[in-house]
Amino acid sequence: MTHSLIQRAAKDIFQSRKTVAFTGAGISVESGIPAFRGGQGLWERYDPDEYAHIDAFHVNPGKVWLMLREMFALIMTAKPNPAHLGLAELERMGFLSSVITQNVDGLHQAAGNTNVIEYHGSHNTLSCLRCSTKVKGSSLTLSDLPARCPNCSSLLKPDVVFFGEAIPWRAQLLSSSESQSCTVMLVIGTSAIVYPAASIPITAKERGATVIEINKEPTSITGDISDYLIEGSAGEIIPAIVEEVRKLV
Ligand code: OAD
Repeated sequence: MTHSLIQRAAKDIFQSRKTVAFTGAGISVESGIPAFRGGQGLWERYDPDEYAHIDAFHVNPGKVWLMLREMFALIMTAKPNPAHLGLAELERMGFLSSVITQNVDGLHQAAGNTNVIEYHGSHNTLSCLRCSTKVKGSSLTLSDLPARCPNCSSLLKPDVVFFGEAIPWRAQLLSSSESQSCTVMLVIGTSAIVYPAASIPITAKERGATVIEINKEPTSITGDISDYLIEGSAGEIIPAIVEEVRKLV
């Protein structure tokens, strides 16, 4: 069953005029970064209202940094897994236009994808909400965290999107154009319940794209928005799809 769906996905990608990947936390699980919901999920231990809402950061940034520091520790050591590397290979082969990611770990770029739209921002820079000073994440080590503003000593906030914050306008614009113009969208490792990100596969579907899901389990868009689900781990399925595409070339 899975093998025939892998072959079907390879054929869809091969015949597609433009393929875009939309990824979530599940694609980085095999790099050692747990997803947000279920099992080891970050939101099982940290209530997002208390740790991931911008109001919570304004009220008590020190508390929010307990969760952020844990995230930084994982991200600073994580390496791309076969799923990230497979998407980079698809781009090199000419079969993937862009990756729209909800992840803030930078692993798609580390794998080699060159057109990555970071819908929820990234850890690459941190900003001071008081005096607007920006600091490069690469200039910091774990022992510098929680990081303070070099100008006014306030606790810095990583430039990731917190609940209650706007999506970076450039990412919003680019992802909207990519989802409207693709003919195949790969939706990988996301529960697809957090809006506005979750509207991305819906837009693709409305514009007539074939939406292919790769996930360990069915999601809220399975069978409704997605045309089919390839159930299993992204780190196994994506390299298998790449192999099948290679056979068609
Ligand atoms: P979730 O934690 O909501 O969902 C992760 C998805 O990945 C689930 O559907 C899992 O079944 C699937 N999954 C887990 N391991 C997998 C694997 N090895 N291979 C394939 N699939 C796997 O994470 P997101 O959908 O990314 O936003 O969450 C969306 C947003 O909610 C995040 O960007 C973050 C969070 O709150 C903000 O913080 C603003």
